[in-house]
Amino acid sequence: MTSDDLLFLAKNVSKSFGGLVALDKVTVAVPEGALTLMIGPNGSGKTTFLQVACGVLKPDSGALLFAGRNVTGLPPYARFRLGIVTTFQIPRLFPSLSVLENVLLAAQKVRESPLSLLSSRKGERDLVERAFEVLKLLSLDRVWDKPARALSGGQMKLLELARALVSEPKLLLLDEPLAGVNPALAGEIMQFLSKVRREKGVAMLLVEHRLDIALKHADYVYVLHHGRVISEGSPEAVVEDPLVAKAYLGE
Ligand SMILES: Nc1ncnc2c1ncn2[C@@H]1O[C@H](COP(=O)(O)OP(=O)(O)OP(=O)(O)O)[C@@H](O)[C@H]1O
Ligand SMILES: [Mg+2]
Repeated sequence: MTSDDLLFLAKNVSKSFGGLVALDKVTVAVPEGALTLMIGPNGSGKTTFLQVACGVLKPDSGALLFAGRNVTGLPPYARFRLGIVTTFQIPRLFPSLSVLENVLLAAQKVRESPLSLLSSRKGERDLVERAFEVLKLLSLDRVWDKPARALSGGQMKLLELARALVSEPKLLLLDEPLAGVNPALAGEIMQFLSKVRREKGVAMLLVEHRLDIALKHADYVYVLHHGRVISEGSPEAVVEDPLVAKAYLGE
C-alpha cells in the first residue's frame, strides 16, 4: 500500500483504564475504499479501538491520521464532519416515523450546512433524492413510507446503516453489525456493505465476531489479543496463523 492510498492510520495507539491496558501500541492502517476487518477474542480491545478512532475516547499515547491530517485531538463531531462515521453514534430509530423520514433526519446532521440544503426547494429535492439513493442501495426503497417499527429486525439494521450512509462517510466504523442476526441475513448485510464499499467507495473498519461471513469480504485483517495486534494480513494468512488459533482457543 502506498501512502496515497492511505485514508486512516492509527499509529502506536495505547489506552489504559486504570491498571488495565486495553490497547498497547496498536498500529492499524485503513486504505481508501477498502474493507478492513478487526477480530479478536472478547475483551481484546476492539471496541476500545473504535472509540478511540471516532474520538469518544482519548488515547493515552499514539497518533491518529485521517486523509493526511492529524486528528488525534479532534472531538467526535469534528471527526464526523471530516467523514469518520460510526454506526454506534447513530441514535436509535424513530419507530413511528417512516423509513424515509428516519433517513432524512440523519441527513440533517450532514457535514455541509444542512440548513442551506433545506432553505431552497432544490436543496430539499436533492436531500430526498440522496435519501432515496441510499434506500435503493440497501433495498429499502420499496418500504420507504412504512413506519420504522413495521420493519423486520434485519431491515431495521439496514435502516441504521442507511442513516449512517446518508451523511456521506469516507470511513465507516462498524462494531459488530452482524451480532444477533440470523446467518442468511448476516450474509445479506455483508453483501450490502461490500456493495456500498464498491459503489460509493466508502472505506470500512469492521469489528466482527462472525468470522465465517466477515472474512470472505475483508481485504485485510488485524487480530487483537490483550490489546495488542498479534497478527495481520490477508484473511487466508491470518486464518493460518497459529498465534491466532492459540488466542481464540486460550479463551
Ligand atoms: N470504560 C471502561 N472502563 C474500564 N474498562 C474498560 C472500559 N471499556 C473497556 N474496558 C476493558 O478493556 C478491555 C477491552 O474491552 P473492549 O470492549 O475494547 O473489548 P472488545 O474486544 O470489544 O470485546 P468484545 O468482543 O467482547 O466486544 C476489557 O478488558 C474491558 O473490560
Ligand atoms: Mg466490543
